[in-house]
Amino acid sequence: MSQRYGPYGGSYLPEVLVEPVRKLEEVWRHLKGDHEFLKEVQTILNTYAGRPTPLTEVPSFSKAIGGPQIFLKREDLLHTGAHKLNNTLGQCLIAKRMGKKRVIAETGAGQHGVATATACAYMGMECTVYMGAKDAKRQEPNVKRMELLGAEVVPVDKGSATLKDAINEAMRDWSKTYDESHYCLGSVLGPYPYPEMVAFFQKVIGEEVKEVITPDIVVACVGGGSNAIGIFTPFIGKARLIGVEGGGKSKSLGKHAARFEGGRPGVLHGTYTYLLQDENGQIVETSSISAGLDYPAIGPMHALLHDEEKVEYTSATDDEALEAFKLLAKTEGIIPALECSHALAFLVKEGKTFPKDSIVVMNLSGRGDKDLPELFAKGLIP
Ligand SMILES: Cc1ncc(COP(=O)(O)O)c(C=O)c1O
Repeated sequence: MSQRYGPYGGSYLPEVLVEPVRKLEEVWRHLKGDHEFLKEVQTILNTYAGRPTPLTEVPSFSKAIGGPQIFLKREDLLHTGAHKLNNTLGQCLIAKRMGKKRVIAETGAGQHGVATATACAYMGMECTVYMGAKDAKRQEPNVKRMELLGAEVVPVDKGSATLKDAINEAMRDWSKTYDESHYCLGSVLGPYPYPEMVAFFQKVIGEEVKEVITPDIVVACVGGGSNAIGIFTPFIGKARLIGVEGGGKSKSLGKHAARFEGGRPGVLHGTYTYLLQDENGQIVETSSISAGLDYPAIGPMHALLHDEEKVEYTSATDDEALEAFKLLAKTEGIIPALECSHALAFLVKEGKTFPKDSIVVMNLSGRGDKDLPELFAKGLIP
């Protein structure tokens, strides 16, 4: 991998962040080939996080949608209930090696915040998590969990009060405190080396699938894109790969979070990639039922995979995701996170068109318990 993915990626930084990002780059260049470090990460993943996660066949769901054989990669069963911990354990170990005492994170759905707070509690580090005020409200159980884990949660009510604004605040904090703090970014976003580093820690998902099964079709939801790149990586060029974005309420700009449907390249949070922006280059508001997909940029490696047509990108609406969420719960006894319910919704729509003898693997990136209070409160589930 390199600093860029075709024209995408790179490192577009304000002056105040050049030094910490360069230092991180230097350490990462060394650690990604350090066998001791990699062994330590793997040991923690196995003994603390619960890797490998299972692959579960879902015949009743498949029958209900008229699809072929479908397996779910159960990242919902990873400690803390989502794939995010793969990355935070890796980054917090890096922070420790760099002698940092404190870790800063942003969070959307709260899963990355919980995973960072967990890794910090486990490794004895201070933790501050920035969260859009709108997200903090719709993901309240995760706010309480982070606090229980010893983290300070800072609600951000600027801008759209969602993930984009939380990242702005986290970066602002880091620019003032980088001597003692590491910024633990939660997806394959931001300036180099973050996209490469986060993808590196998430590729364990796809590698474990490859050990067990050879899929014809792999499906994942795409927020920033970390769970998708994690499961796609070993299968690029070898299987049909489908990434599902948050289609929100409608196709109009401002009403969804599908960067490949109405987005165009630009720079946000240090990286050049597809963005939802207006004709003057201003970032537009996004909308998605799922906080984890509600972000105007997509990871730069997805931008290249899109242009090279190595991955097909599509979207599912809020309503479609909610129906799929309910269907998986009823047919298989698994309550999925709203984020990966978008990938399930794609299967509901298109699964019947897949060749009957194909093997499909979908990344169940997280569990849905965090979404229940908001869905009950809004009367969206009985
Ligand atoms: C369960 C779950 N899945 C998916 C995502 C989307 O992130 P990414 O695209 O980086 O996997 C999130 C983000 O918070 C999440 O919590």
